[in-house]
Amino acid sequence: MKRPRNYADLLKDVLTEEELTLLPRSFDIVGNIAIVELPSQLMGRASLIGQAILNFHKNVRSVYAKIGPVTGIYRTRKLSLIAGEDNPITIHTEYGLRFMIDVSRVYFSPRLSWEHRRVALQVKDGEIVVDMFSGVGPFAIHIASLRKALVYAVDINPYAYECMKESIRLNLKRFKGVVVPIKGDSRIVAYAMSGVANRVIMNLPEKALEFIPYALKLLKSSGGTIHFYAFGGSDLNEVIQKLKTAVESSRRRLEEVICVRRVREVAPRKWQIVVDALIR
Ligand SMILES: C[S@@+](CC[C@H](N)C(=O)[O-])C[C@H]1O[C@@H](n2cnc3c(N)ncnc32)[C@H](O)[C@@H]1O
Repeated sequence: MKRPRNYADLLKDVLTEEELTLLPRSFDIVGNIAIVELPSQLMGRASLIGQAILNFHKNVRSVYAKIGPVTGIYRTRKLSLIAGEDNPITIHTEYGLRFMIDVSRVYFSPRLSWEHRRVALQVKDGEIVVDMFSGVGPFAIHIASLRKALVYAVDINPYAYECMKESIRLNLKRFKGVVVPIKGDSRIVAYAMSGVANRVIMNLPEKALEFIPYALKLLKSSGGTIHFYAFGGSDLNEVIQKLKTAVESSRRRLEEVICVRRVREVAPRKWQIVVDALIR
């Protein structure tokens, strides 16, 4: 028998032709957990599909199916176990850094790994950075592993905060800088820490514009850099214009767009977009 090239090959004699065409070609792997998005027509075959993933990917021990979209303040989604062990906690590795993740209770996307690195590479020694929506702390931990910087990492989700504390501990030996985890609302933190930051990271695309006044409050009075994430269509200028208007409403000035790029496609013709901007 020919060696299977992917998990779908293991299902050739089990699923119908039509079902095979509906199989997702890719899925996320977080640590040793696979998370798949199955079309409704395949939900009745979910455990067979999950078992094929377990058999093909020897490093995977649990397979969960996505049930519904990412929702709520914590940006999480419902998952349903379709094969393997029911344990949503795992250790995920990104650029050699280790993160503790409870896939059922915190937001994490392995598709942002280059984005975490890309932002961290821009930070200079001596900077003070605030990550307003840190999740389990990937931006902060990448930064501290590369630079002698002080990073305040804020998240409102108590589970994300617990995962972040453990992730900091897991990487402590590699740190050049410091990460201070904060459990709370970044709007309140912005009042307590007004004017401290050289750089602010704001990865909450669905509410980014709403949080601009707080991000600007965190920046030093002389200004600094923001990494602004939003969802948008194919016109990147539209996102820049919205950001510019929001910055001007807070009586600050967008001096320079350092970079604008599509981070990833989130739906047909809809992207997560980042603007790195210098604010004065
Ligand atoms: C899209 S996730 C970003 C996660 C992280 N930056 C990453 O790259 O993995 C957004 C995070 O913002 C947090 N959040 C939402 N509203 C918040 C608020 N007002 N203050 C602090 N954190 C908040 C959520 O709990 C969630 O973990």
